[in-house]
Amino acid sequence: MHSPVGIRDVAEHAGVSPGTVSNVLNRPEKVSAATRAKVEAAVRELGFVRHGSAATLRAGHSKTIGLSVIDIGNPFFTDVTAGVEEVASDLGYAVILSNSAGSRTKEERNLLVLAEQRVRGVLITPSDEDPTRLDRLRERGIMVVLVDHPAHRPDQCSVAVNDIAGGTTAVTHLRSGGATSIAYVTGPLTIRQCIDRRAGAERALGGAELRVIEMAAMTPRAGQQAAAKMIAEGDLPDAIFCANDLLALGMLRGLTHAGIRVPDDVALIGYDDIDFAAASAVSLTSIRQPTHQLGRVATELLLDECDHPDTHAHQQIMFQPELVIRESTR
Ligand code: RIB
Repeated sequence: MHSPVGIRDVAEHAGVSPGTVSNVLNRPEKVSAATRAKVEAAVRELGFVRHGSAATLRAGHSKTIGLSVIDIGNPFFTDVTAGVEEVASDLGYAVILSNSAGSRTKEERNLLVLAEQRVRGVLITPSDEDPTRLDRLRERGIMVVLVDHPAHRPDQCSVAVNDIAGGTTAVTHLRSGGATSIAYVTGPLTIRQCIDRRAGAERALGGAELRVIEMAAMTPRAGQQAAAKMIAEGDLPDAIFCANDLLALGMLRGLTHAGIRVPDDVALIGYDDIDFAAASAVSLTSIRQPTHQLGRVATELLLDECDHPDTHAHQQIMFQPELVIRESTR
């Protein structure tokens, strides 16, 4: 087993000093083009790979950012991650993706690993409303930007979508189709997005009853389970608003498998407008979020704060959701 190629091996191969090799790697502007070319040729020929932790120790941080999401299986977060990675790679940063799965304990463990990796900053959709974990990151000098969640404090950046308006739009659309009994099927009501969508739905009802079915997860399986529960209870509403598209797609499957017609018997609307919404057997009406843009803008804010701390101005950006009407509503 050969020992890894080191800076001294590159220096000997290029006929320069180890200090010159270090300059080529870290301060190339200090080295002549001819010497840089000799060292770069030696790096290629020997297959030298610099030791990331050495560069990190010198700088005190790595050219890496962390991204913590609450459900890596949700296409919504896949699209957010794609937007994050686009901006980060353009600016020379790597992204470490971690999944809290909605668990505070898991999130805490992931954030500690990111801090140990000396990430420059963290983008996070928090698993609950307690800002303590994020404050601890800031105390360690790690910048934090909230994604898909409003900021906890004015000196913190955030990029979110107006979920109250989204909930209101969803229920207003159902009522415009003639719905008189509406149910809201949601994930855990500890998740801020679910809380706000419910508040918006209730605002659209102006005091009329909104039946709420809270599930432990926001997945197609949970949506199917909610459908089975409502069918078993025998009092189906004439419209259902699901807190995200995965729940709605599971609900659609559960209703249609039981012979219930969507939208003739029960109208159905989801939230996110993931790609599967348009592709489902009965295409899903949904509330579209600017998912890719959420990831891009949040990363631009984070890296501006990381790379230009003296001129950075904190921003709490709020996008507006959009109604996309398809076959699942009247
Ligand atoms: O993570 C739960 C939900 O919140 C996602 O489906 C997406 O709607 C996000 O805003």
